[in-house]
Amino acid sequence: MPEAALRRVGVVGLGIGTAHVRALRRLRDRFAVVAVCDPDETRSQPVAEHIGADVVTFDELLHRDDVEVVHVCTPPALHLEQCVAALASGKSVVCEKPVVASLADVDLLLEAEAAAAGRLMPVFQYRFGNGLQQVKALVDAGVAGRAYTSSVEVAWRRRPEYYAAPWRGRWATELGGVLLSQAVHALDMLTYVAGPPRRVFCRATTRVNDIEVEDCAAASLELADGSFATVTATLGSPEEITRHRFHFAAFSAESGTAPYSSSSLPWTITPDTPEVAEAVESVIGDWAERAEEWQGQFERWADALDAGTEPPVTLADARASLELLTALYWSARTGEDVALPLADDHPCYRGWLP
Ligand SMILES: NC(=O)c1ccc[n+]([C@@H]2O[C@H](COP(=O)([O-])OP(=O)(O)OC[C@H]3O[C@@H](n4cnc5c(N)ncnc54)[C@H](O)[C@@H]3O)[C@@H](O)[C@H]2O)c1
Repeated sequence: MPEAALRRVGVVGLGIGTAHVRALRRLRDRFAVVAVCDPDETRSQPVAEHIGADVVTFDELLHRDDVEVVHVCTPPALHLEQCVAALASGKSVVCEKPVVASLADVDLLLEAEAAAAGRLMPVFQYRFGNGLQQVKALVDAGVAGRAYTSSVEVAWRRRPEYYAAPWRGRWATELGGVLLSQAVHALDMLTYVAGPPRRVFCRATTRVNDIEVEDCAAASLELADGSFATVTATLGSPEEITRHRFHFAAFSAESGTAPYSSSSLPWTITPDTPEVAEAVESVIGDWAERAEEWQGQFERWADALDAGTEPPVTLADARASLELLTALYWSARTGEDVALPLADDHPCYRGWLP
């Protein structure tokens, strides 16, 4: 095992960035948050005082030689510029979803990362729930067999107050609605376990709030292995749930319905035969639970940085997620059944914004 290093971190944007700060502080032997950056001092000052970090501007942060990793937690339309600048200044970068606004932009970011000393890790913290990790382990171990169908339900509630943040609800600044901002994690959980899509059809509309972007969507996917998946997503559900079901030849797997922790245990795994039950037991019977959410992702990221291996979520993963979103938005707009991959001369390669 390589020796664990302590890495100094700056966190940019202190909305969800405060969740990053909390997670990093639970990993004190791996990361130290030494600087925070937010033009809103009512956000940056209290955090800085509480943890003993400096309040800095973004430029000052990039010039800090002691800072090795920059966490970009700003509104989405700022991510490309901030990630490219941080990589160019020699930092590694952790960037909140959605990393950027188009396949063209993510390809620029892939080039920037390839030319840089640092690595860039997009955030998909729901991947690291122990329930989802168990299902993934069973699939990777070859226990699942043929996939038949999967389903994803994201039924959350967002009221007008949520759209008080001026960047929310608008195509130019939020870049999308329930598909991009809320269901993106559930879609990533789907493809993480069941594999990439090869055809998608989607309907999307705005019915819940007085906003530009979609807040209700339904999609049907054909995955690369020939299995099917359905997705429904709304921001108008009085009871909030997130639920995944995977139906494989050997077992079915169903998440709980806790809206913001559906990748955590417990999941219900129903084996088809006693032999499958034994195989399931041999893979997950003595499961050692690991940290979840941001802490779970950042701990694995620290391990990858120490070992010089791939981050637990890569830009290629973020590209796959953006490609699926691009296809969903294109299908919703045109009524087409969209085949993937999308070529770089596809009308949506430079973005799905209307
Ligand atoms: N992974 C998740 O589950 C999750 C959850 C919520 C939000 N997010 C993502 O995190 C990002 C931020 O969302 P949020 O909910 O925290 O938004 P927010 O509006 O609450 O916070 C964004 C913060 O960024 C600051 N900011 C704006 N411009 C800045 C700049 N140039 N430099 C530094 N700071 C700047 C703002 O002052 C604000 O405090 C978005 O991309 C969002 O999609 C991810």
